[in-house]
Amino acid sequence: MSAHYVIAIDGPAASGKGTLARRLARHLGFAYLDTGTLYRAVGKAVRDGGGNPEFESDAVFAAQNFAHSLKAEDLQNPALRTDEAGQDASKVAKYPQVREALLQFQKDFAASPPEGIAGVVMDGRDIGTVICPDADVKLFVTASTEVRSKRRYLELTAKGLKTSMEAVMADMTERDARDSGRDTAPLKPAEDAHILDTSMLDADAAFAAALAIVLKGLQRS
Ligand code: DC
Repeated sequence: MSAHYVIAIDGPAASGKGTLARRLARHLGFAYLDTGTLYRAVGKAVRDGGGNPEFESDAVFAAQNFAHSLKAEDLQNPALRTDEAGQDASKVAKYPQVREALLQFQKDFAASPPEGIAGVVMDGRDIGTVICPDADVKLFVTASTEVRSKRRYLELTAKGLKTSMEAVMADMTERDARDSGRDTAPLKPAEDAHILDTSMLDADAAFAAALAIVLKGLQRS
């Protein structure tokens, strides 16, 4: 048993894992890291430098530079939250050297929460499988492609962006295929992960289900 708790939350885009992870962390008083933001920041650094996130050398160069000077404020930029930033993140994330450059920051976060904090919640694609294989609780949050696309569509149109369900679903399917199909740390549930399908659940019901799994898991660890 470690001195603090580690909760690993993985899942595909728009599964609701980010909202759940943040809410769990707040409820439990744990530290929280959205690891997708790291990949988003690397994708943005590539673009800002005039490079192409599809090119391995551009992605690796940006990731190694970014990892050297990584500060928490870098992760707060609202420009990282767009769908384009998500696609760019997914492109750079398939390169092993990009993942390697971001590994230590994530492991350090998991290993040492701030003084007085009893645990950490981290969300991403490979937290339960690669970053924190010994996590006290692992959740894999998922939902059908249709439900995830609809949620994303409503989110985007609520922000005033013009798009169609078809376009959103095509983007979602492309990102899922890239994240699940890559050779290094693909998106997949850890063998000991609890699968939570939120297709039929609203945000409160999903939170209640996740909290029940987490509290049971923490009692056992
Ligand atoms: O969770 P998100 O949508 O912010 O993630 C953006 C992309 O970053 C995602 O499509 C794949 C990549 N990613 C990853 O490969 N590993 C992680 N732990 C987190 C995100």
